[in-house]
Amino acid sequence: MNSAKIAPSPAKLILNMGLKHRNTFGLDSTAELAYDITSPDQLPTLIKELEEKKLGWRALGGGSNVILPEYLPGATLLINILGQEVLKSDAQTTYLSVGAGVDWHDLVTWTLEHELLGLENLALIPGTVGAAPIQNIGAYGVEVGKYIEYIEAFDSKTHAFVTLPQDACQFAYRDSYFKQNPNRFIVTKVVFKFPKVWQARLQYADLAKQFKDTNSNPSARQIFDAVCAIRSQKLPDPKVIGNAGSFFQNPIISDTQYELLMKQFPELVSYPDVAGKRKLAAGWLIDQCGFKGKRIGPVGVYEKQALVLVNHGGGTSTDILNLAKNIQEEVLGKFSVRLEIEPNIL
Ligand code: EPU
Repeated sequence: MNSAKIAPSPAKLILNMGLKHRNTFGLDSTAELAYDITSPDQLPTLIKELEEKKLGWRALGGGSNVILPEYLPGATLLINILGQEVLKSDAQTTYLSVGAGVDWHDLVTWTLEHELLGLENLALIPGTVGAAPIQNIGAYGVEVGKYIEYIEAFDSKTHAFVTLPQDACQFAYRDSYFKQNPNRFIVTKVVFKFPKVWQARLQYADLAKQFKDTNSNPSARQIFDAVCAIRSQKLPDPKVIGNAGSFFQNPIISDTQYELLMKQFPELVSYPDVAGKRKLAAGWLIDQCGFKGKRIGPVGVYEKQALVLVNHGGGTSTDILNLAKNIQEEVLGKFSVRLEIEPNIL
């Protein structure tokens, strides 16, 4: 019997590809060499080839958490690996394997339709499944890491595929092992775990408010609908106004610094964090510096949520980063707190 392996078809190459529609900020950007990655099998040969030619590369998911320059030299790998399947289901848990290129919100919708509950608080987050664990996306009291059993990725350092179980992924607030090792791993598949016993998570004030008087026992579908409604009210739709969601992380400070700040600013908005630390609402800090709704040329701060920077049209990464610097300086001056930029600057 012939046991020779069939070689995977190479990734399609597109020269000088415009990425305006592949980044939610809507920035004009041209990728010198864009590769359409539809299967993990294409990666080993391609990465080897790029290294031999001494060409740099980066992976791009849905482009919802990146700030792109006008020109991206070298290779841009468009991760378009699709597909999802239930791997197994036992008395407690269902395991679902999902390709990195699947749209995040489509996945959340699909899971609810198939009675796999847990991701409803994470509805309407733009981006792809493969990008979700990198910054450990989180909203309304839930972070994706909690639902991940393991991740399959190509490790460009060892040129091998790796399987990283949840604890190896080092998930933390907007952080993971992948984020700590930039440009090393290309996530190809995420395996989720859905416990069969479901519990509503309504501790986040905005969400709790929705059900307080009317429904103390909402279903996952009702929570999903409420999250979609809250997000649509507060956050700009990237299809209408370019943006990358929260532009800064909520800063985490020591209890000592927090107490000093509270004396000066009793209205300070914050949340408990790990022992000895406090997480501040960056949106509040920026709002207090008078930035909400401010526009500087083609870019600005969203009028309903100061944590979101927007591209009204024709803005460049330089415009956005200048505005960000301005905000960081003002916040540091007023509150002595340094804001970290959340999206990836390529
Ligand atoms: N606030 C203001 N003015 C503003 C914005 C916020 O005063 O312009 C204050 C309000 O008191 C508000 C509080 O800040 O109650 C917190 O704001 P919000 O509830 O909108 O949440 P957030 O801290 O700004 C975080 C995440 C969001 C996530 C929401 C809901 C980060 C960096 N952002 O925002 O994530 O959707 O909580 O859980 O942690 C994203 O990462 O792109 C994102 C949208």
